[in-house]
Amino acid sequence: MSKVVSQESSPRVADSVAEVRAAVHTARQSGLKIGFVPTMGALHVGHVSLIEQARAECGYVIVSIFVNPTQFGPNEDFNRYPRPREMDLRICGDAGADLVFYPSVETMYPAGHRTFVEVGGLSDILEGAIRPGHFRGVATVVTKLFNIVQADRAYFGQKDYQQQTLIRVMTRELDLPTEVITCETIRDPDGLALSSRNAYLSPAERQSGLSLSRALRLADQRVASGDRDVAQIQSAMRQEMEQTSGLKLDYAVIVHHESLTPLSEAEPTMVALVAARVGTTRLIDNMILRLPSNTKS
Ligand code: PAF
Repeated sequence: MSKVVSQESSPRVADSVAEVRAAVHTARQSGLKIGFVPTMGALHVGHVSLIEQARAECGYVIVSIFVNPTQFGPNEDFNRYPRPREMDLRICGDAGADLVFYPSVETMYPAGHRTFVEVGGLSDILEGAIRPGHFRGVATVVTKLFNIVQADRAYFGQKDYQQQTLIRVMTRELDLPTEVITCETIRDPDGLALSSRNAYLSPAERQSGLSLSRALRLADQRVASGDRDVAQIQSAMRQEMEQTSGLKLDYAVIVHHESLTPLSEAEPTMVALVAARVGTTRLIDNMILRLPSNTKS
């Protein structure tokens, strides 16, 4: 059954797979393209930009809100992850979503669930090395959501660079019929990439968190000016982050933009990935780096 929320801008809410499938069937019969934005809720301007892009490109827009337990480690923030249901529904409505899929854990993982999706190689490096099992949970839930929604296009933020890379590979290798669209990272004016977890940061922690975007800008400036010494640029990024008080560096690397493997020498397009802990909050960020086209090796 659909639930109706009082605000005018609130979209239709579905909590069952059958209801989503029926809505998609009806939209398709009307000739509409289906756009899909998978989220864990606690929506911010970054999510709004994904929903708006889906709205601009597709006739029927579905947002899922599901705090996925299988992508959280035992000591991570699954229980304290924010779940502002009414506010999220309002944001979805205002941004133009037609339907919000808001399943329970039992709907997504009925008792006895035992099928998981692993993306070899990409799941256990970088974020995956620090958060074992995280990407198995992401790949599993996104496969399930893609199968339920069967969207034409699904929208993800570049901020979770490794996640969008893994989802692209998985979608291609499992022949899932959805096009993965990656949308630019939205930042606060001070440079901090928007994340639902920023809500955990105290003002002082937030200041420390700005070191991530500073390190990325530094790498970008060096590469844009023709510096090809990847090792030196990485060590400058690390130095920037290590000298920031209150911040514990996890990694600051420049890697291949598709395989995410380390680079021994500069390539025309690369990606810088950074991750750190500030207090109890983990922050990640990234930037695509492009060598100027006239640079010689
Ligand atoms: O990026 C997120 O919010 C989540 O990892 C996703 C893709 C919705 C899967 O739970």
